[in-house]
Amino acid sequence: MFDKDPLTALEAMTRAQWLAFAPLAFQATAVMRDRGVLAALADAAPTKGRDIDEVAAATGLSVYATRVLLEAGLGLHIVWRRDGFYHLGKLGRFLLDDEMTGVNFDFTRDVCYRAAAHLDASLREGRPVGLKELGPWATLYEGLSVLQEPARRSWHAFDHFHSDQAFPAVHERLAVDPPARLLDVGCNNGKWAQLCLERFPTMELGLADLPAQLERAHERLRDAGLDDRTTGHPVNLLDPASALPPGYGLIWMSQFLDCFSEEQIVSILGKVRAALPPGGRLWILELFWDRQRFEAAAFSLQQTSLYFSCVANGNSQMYDSPVFFGLLERAGFEIGTLTDGLGGFHTLLECRVRA
Ligand SMILES: C[S@@+](CC[C@H](N)C(=O)[O-])C[C@H]1O[C@@H](n2cnc3c(N)ncnc32)[C@H](O)[C@@H]1O
Repeated sequence: MFDKDPLTALEAMTRAQWLAFAPLAFQATAVMRDRGVLAALADAAPTKGRDIDEVAAATGLSVYATRVLLEAGLGLHIVWRRDGFYHLGKLGRFLLDDEMTGVNFDFTRDVCYRAAAHLDASLREGRPVGLKELGPWATLYEGLSVLQEPARRSWHAFDHFHSDQAFPAVHERLAVDPPARLLDVGCNNGKWAQLCLERFPTMELGLADLPAQLERAHERLRDAGLDDRTTGHPVNLLDPASALPPGYGLIWMSQFLDCFSEEQIVSILGKVRAALPPGGRLWILELFWDRQRFEAAAFSLQQTSLYFSCVANGNSQMYDSPVFFGLLERAGFEIGTLTDGLGGFHTLLECRVRA
């Protein structure tokens, strides 16, 4: 993938126009999805389609609004038209029904869209200048627990849609040799912890995260009646004086290290090394754009890096795996087993301290 220029000149010219009008095309697509234009076409008799007046009547939009949206949809190949009747295309069908597309779409609209206008400044200054569109924090993580809707819902749906799919496969591996005590670093809302506590009835869980986020995880586990086997460790791992608690045979980091810069990752891994007992395991679940089977997945991750630049913290990304592996090496870890494609897209790195 990405080792040659795959476009003809005509394709390149066409794609350049898609990009030139991308913000308008994006918003038009969102309106067509959310105001029922796509659904109105999906409901039409299969071969007949619907004309503009029928779509306007079905959606409550004006004839003018319906016409500009449907005409924009033609150029985007979201819909197609014959004899004045509009039909839903395959692309429209994915936009309407595919869960992953919906999650990615909402994340871009609710979390990234306005912030993206500050990408240039973010990259120049090495901080998430666009974050001010969501709240007054230095990094998104400081605001995660108080984020307003719909950004909050869309952020969590995006974060968890992807990791949730990999968790069952990781549990199968964990079941082969489960640790007595597992430390979940960057536990977020406690979803993984809950699954572990339910699946492994004697396992004790340590939860490490920023204090406000940790409170959310505790709430979830309390509600599920599972908090008697958990210990909270509030920590800001960017604080040079911070440390991770000892005594956990396996340290788990899922979609966590991509939240940090290269130097920060090496520093955090140093804290992991200091906390691990002899023979202790470090398991990392990450998404690497260069290890994807499909270009659409690689593309989504490459663009997600820009969210880290202008919204999250200004200095992290979804990594190219050789860059990431170099950081593990620098921190004194080696990868014992590497498994790609968990849940479709994730890579599990089972690591140990290098002898
Ligand atoms: C992308 S989420 C990971 C979610 C979860 N592990 C998963 O697999 O879905 C990153 C987590 O790291 C936490 N985090 C970010 N910066 C941190 C820091 N400096 N110290 C501790 N935790 C931090 C955030 O609060 C958030 O819960």
